[in-house]
Amino acid sequence: MRRVRPPSADDRSGIVLPRRRLLRALGGIGIGAFALPGRPEPADHPAATGSRAGNGAPSPPDDWCGPRVGSPLLVPGEAGLFARLAPNGAPLTLTAKGSTGIEARWPMAFAADHRGRRFWNPTFAFERGERARIELVNAIGEPTIVHWHGLANDTANDGAGLTVAAPGSRYAYDFVVRERAGLYWYHPHPHGLTAGQAYRGLFGLVVVDDAEDRALRTALDLAWGRTDIPLVLQDRRAGAVYDATSADRHHGFLGGAATVNGGTDPYLDVATRTYRFRILNASNARTYRLGFADAAGKALSFTLLGTDGGLLAKAVPCTECFVSSAERVDILVDLSAAAIGDAVVLETRGFDPMHFDPPATSTGAAAPAHAAGDWPEGASRRLLTLRVRERVAYRAVVPARLSAASEIDVAGARERAFRLGYAKGRWRINDRVFVMGETPVEVVRDTTEVWLLRNYHTSMPHAMHVHGFHFRVLERETSPDALRPLAVDERGRLSTDLGWKDTVLVWPGESVRVALRFAMAFPAPQTYLLHCHNLEHEDGGMMLGMKVVAG
Ligand code: C2O
Ligand code: CU
Ligand code: CU
Repeated sequence: MRRVRPPSADDRSGIVLPRRRLLRALGGIGIGAFALPGRPEPADHPAATGSRAGNGAPSPPDDWCGPRVGSPLLVPGEAGLFARLAPNGAPLTLTAKGSTGIEARWPMAFAADHRGRRFWNPTFAFERGERARIELVNAIGEPTIVHWHGLANDTANDGAGLTVAAPGSRYAYDFVVRERAGLYWYHPHPHGLTAGQAYRGLFGLVVVDDAEDRALRTALDLAWGRTDIPLVLQDRRAGAVYDATSADRHHGFLGGAATVNGGTDPYLDVATRTYRFRILNASNARTYRLGFADAAGKALSFTLLGTDGGLLAKAVPCTECFVSSAERVDILVDLSAAAIGDAVVLETRGFDPMHFDPPATSTGAAAPAHAAGDWPEGASRRLLTLRVRERVAYRAVVPARLSAASEIDVAGARERAFRLGYAKGRWRINDRVFVMGETPVEVVRDTTEVWLLRNYHTSMPHAMHVHGFHFRVLERETSPDALRPLAVDERGRLSTDLGWKDTVLVWPGESVRVALRFAMAFPAPQTYLLHCHNLEHEDGGMMLGMKVVAG
């Protein structure tokens, strides 16, 4: 097997993969010994009931993806779906297509041809600092535009929908990828049409690389496509149509089938070593409470390496993390002490979705429950099964320092509050809904602000996203009880709050304080957006324009 270099003096100061430490502490052997004590086993655990769907619900519908139920995980390769496409400075054409023929998984997808290969929803691989020249061709018969989620672009290259490409037309992007190494993504952003187009398959990944990430991959002997694998989560309904009801528009469009890289209930054969998974929640509205479990349903720990904006300064041991729409987590799972034949499941665990129904209005717009078919929001579900098939010698230690992730100095920062609420049948920010052309938020270039994102008690969780700037989470206040055990510091922050973020989930009754630094590489003014990334809420106007003006 591949040789892993022995730990250096530097490495010895690093943190040992937590599960190995746990093994020593428990003195156990076999994967079952890694179970974390004290976690009540949910009665609806898929493995406990033996049902594929969990929570006693029928199995997910699979007619939309046919043979992919229970088949091998699609690991992006050299061509095809999610394949890695490194333009290396070459200009590319990305065509949004309304008929794809790719196993009917999605009725829409992005196609790109490069060096004789056909890519569907390519994973763009950029080196930090690389120039990207991508021309969008709109072949879907309705207006569209591509937004580069998490990449700091000027307004023209942000693709936020302030300008769109009409059917049959083209839109040229030309920008420099300035981000830290990490997992970003792209999806349509034509206002009012975003949710339907994303649901029908128009989305893909962007992987940015730099020296820090290469050093980590070397230290852990990780190789893209083999032991460093992207996982794209999306819940889907049977059939390919996007037909959001008023209930869907209120709660968000939820599907009854869990898909990972386009397949339902896939498995991946693994060896006794460490695997890195870079996970994107590409669901329109669903939040996942991600964790790993052994075949008996016992929770296993993992290591959080990074968040939306790249690697954390230091790795954090985790037992689970919430991942809302558009959020990314970069995690490491250590299978080195597993036995051949063991199965480790990536699952979403049950939680209280805290969806409060709005007061009934005269229009009767208020929907009854979060009508999610056979997979209600907050219900558990098995997502991916890792089948341990091969024993290899592997020894690696997570470096003590992953990156030089900085903090934001908030001394003298201007404070601003955003109230997330509901009135007259619409989700709102500071009582407003989005109006094209208006920028009610005006910030001054090169200044720092602290934003207080306050969600009402009688609301539902909102995944708040800011275009153009990554932010740091400073504090969570009055969080729901269910979140408290997950807090990692006295400021109520979760493990996923410890890195750079572009999207943060704000629970009902909760206030999340974030810091933003409005430094940009472009001349002022530039216009961006701030919105809820529940795509039905976004399309419904839970979004504000934001202008960055000169100081
Ligand atoms: Cu990923 Cu404005 O969105
Ligand atoms: Cu964005
Ligand atoms: Cu929302």
